[in-house]
Amino acid sequence: MTRLIDGRAIAADVRARVAEAVGALSDRDIAPGLATVLVGDDPASRVYVRNKIRACAEVGIRSIEHALDADISEADLLDLVGRLNADPEVDGILVQLPLPACIDAARATEAIDPRKDVDGFHTTNAGRLSVGLDAMVPCTPAGCMILLKSVCPDPTGMRAIVVGRSNIVGKPVAQLLLAANCTVTIAHSRTADLDARCREADIVIAAVGKPEMIEGGWIGPGATVIDVGINRVEGADGKGRLVGDVEFETAKEVAGAITPVPGGVGPMTIACLLRNTAIAACRRRGMAVPDSVRLA
Ligand code: GUN
Repeated sequence: MTRLIDGRAIAADVRARVAEAVGALSDRDIAPGLATVLVGDDPASRVYVRNKIRACAEVGIRSIEHALDADISEADLLDLVGRLNADPEVDGILVQLPLPACIDAARATEAIDPRKDVDGFHTTNAGRLSVGLDAMVPCTPAGCMILLKSVCPDPTGMRAIVVGRSNIVGKPVAQLLLAANCTVTIAHSRTADLDARCREADIVIAAVGKPEMIEGGWIGPGATVIDVGINRVEGADGKGRLVGDVEFETAKEVAGAITPVPGGVGPMTIACLLRNTAIAACRRRGMAVPDSVRLA
């Protein structure tokens, strides 16, 4: 029987644990704060930031909102980030991407104090993750690992394939799998015999951003499939619908466990952002991170 991995329920559990940790901090008069920086008026980014602010409120994290005009200069944005770095009321800083073309996103990301980098995008955090030091772990990869461990608590020795090599998902999730003692293959658009490489894997992490590219026939019997893709396609009825990078209907017939889209990895990203903010609030004050919000 294939197990459906319920990302909504698992994300709700993560959020409840964060709320508990934030409650313990508030007993010590500490109110964790997340600064959100939204540049311009991209409708999708507005929705994402609004959802993040709402989720913060639900677990007791303060939001410090900054909405900037699309024509703000890079220097002014970097100046704001510098002030947020120095602000003791701010535990986490999130600069929503994408940024307008006139701003170098890498420079903006690098300007964030790594200790406040709740996205885990700063090269200091990427480097620390790769050498096994405490790091702010990017939210979607952290979410993938929590989902994986919900069905496979110890993946030691398993063969994992990550399809996609982005800095935000593919590379960090590969590092996390390696840290969990998996044998990891990072595949991408130039990988030869991708279907055969996938079929050999005990764990498939699909993060290519191509709707239903990974077919059921590419999945080995009993494998665990974590689908990071969120793609809008037109359904047979002409209406839009969301699909992952994996062809769910065929893959679920062979997989041992699989995440649906929607309702799989998606809800984990914001839950892990809240978790990172609570972790940042603890670490910045030299406090131990509560067990309840440690990575599963
Ligand atoms: N844009 C889309 N997803 C994200 C994210 O997780 N973090 C940031 N900062 N921007 C995004």
